[in-house]
Amino acid sequence: VRTVQVELGERSYDVVVGAGAVGALGDLLPAGARRAAVVTQEGIGFDVDPDLETNTTSIPDGEAGKTMATVEELCRTWSRWGLTRNDVVIGVGGGVVTDVAGFAASVYHRGAAVVHVPTTLLGMVDAAIGGKTGVNLPEGKNLVGAFWQPSGVVCDLDALATLPPRELRSGHGELAKYHFLSDDDLDSMDLEERVAAAVTIKADVVASDERESSLPAHDGPQRGRAILNYGHTLAHALETSGDHELRHGEAVAVGLIYAALLARRLGRIDDGRVDEHRTVVGGYDLPQAPPPGADADALVALMARDKKAIDGLTFVLDGPDGVEVVHDVPEAEVRAALAELLAGKLVRP
Ligand SMILES: NC(=O)c1ccc[n+]([C@@H]2O[C@H](COP(=O)([O-])OP(=O)(O)OC[C@H]3O[C@@H](n4cnc5c(N)ncnc54)[C@H](O)[C@@H]3O)[C@@H](O)[C@H]2O)c1
Ligand SMILES: [Zn+2]
Repeated sequence: VRTVQVELGERSYDVVVGAGAVGALGDLLPAGARRAAVVTQEGIGFDVDPDLETNTTSIPDGEAGKTMATVEELCRTWSRWGLTRNDVVIGVGGGVVTDVAGFAASVYHRGAAVVHVPTTLLGMVDAAIGGKTGVNLPEGKNLVGAFWQPSGVVCDLDALATLPPRELRSGHGELAKYHFLSDDDLDSMDLEERVAAAVTIKADVVASDERESSLPAHDGPQRGRAILNYGHTLAHALETSGDHELRHGEAVAVGLIYAALLARRLGRIDDGRVDEHRTVVGGYDLPQAPPPGADADALVALMARDKKAIDGLTFVLDGPDGVEVVHDVPEAEVRAALAELLAGKLVRP
């Protein structure tokens, strides 16, 4: 078991990673908390024992449960039970649970402490770290939310034992992304080290840009929170356009290959680096191309609308200085790289 610190001044907190890490839960709870409101889902079955008076609520599964109605239901339940703002909320589940539990905690009594216990790989390396919380509206995903840092995070690898294989693959897509966001050799690491490395990378980015303020508003290299969206521009387009055949991390895997092909077209990386992308993504047994029937025109239109694209086509791309935000990418290159991807073409030296 190892500990990674997220350095955010008075909002700093520990992320404890490893098999059996849940044993450290008690150390992460705020002093003075007398009650713990656990939020989870049916079927997760990962038990926590905060050693406080505890009330457990199960929220509905999937994006459909990530709503304002669920937040209201939680807050009403906590209020009837007598949870105070000095107590603690504990989210035990995947990103859906920790996003909802975190957001509900952020508004309950104008802000109660929350501790996250992510039980999916994606939650451990991404959703539970960094303080973004939120819910969906019928008009779109994650449209209502808050930055609300947890008091601590427990990534207990034992929780992954019951995770469906598809969900594990989805987490692998995000893990693959982290291989390209630092100089550390994630390939050589075991799972505990690798999850801790991913958490460290995300923690460093969040520490430098807690509220994603360095949006691409000016020219020049940028390594703010936006780099966490590496591989995500095409991934979001695939998720929006597709028949939801791909889990998020699988779409990210395809997006990573695409970003590498695009970066090569722009002369930012060489063939060897493209191969590295294929090796990492392939090593996780993830897809390297979109499902058959993908519509290139529709994908380009969606990428142009991606929320990271503020002035024309903006991408997060690898290059000589590492992964950074790149503006004004010519649409012709965007199309050509997509054609390469759809053709499954592997141009080698
Ligand atoms: N806040 C952030 O920074 C951030 C970042 C990335 C993603 N997210 C959000 O995270 C969500 C996706 O999270 P996810 O991929 O973890 O999906 P999820 O939370 O929907 O979990 C996937 C499924 O696995 C089940 N499950 C979870 N843990 C289990 C376990 N240990 N054993 C058996 N089943 C288990 C869940 O009940 C669910 O059915 C999205 O809503 C996304 O918007 C947030
Ligand atoms: Zn993602």
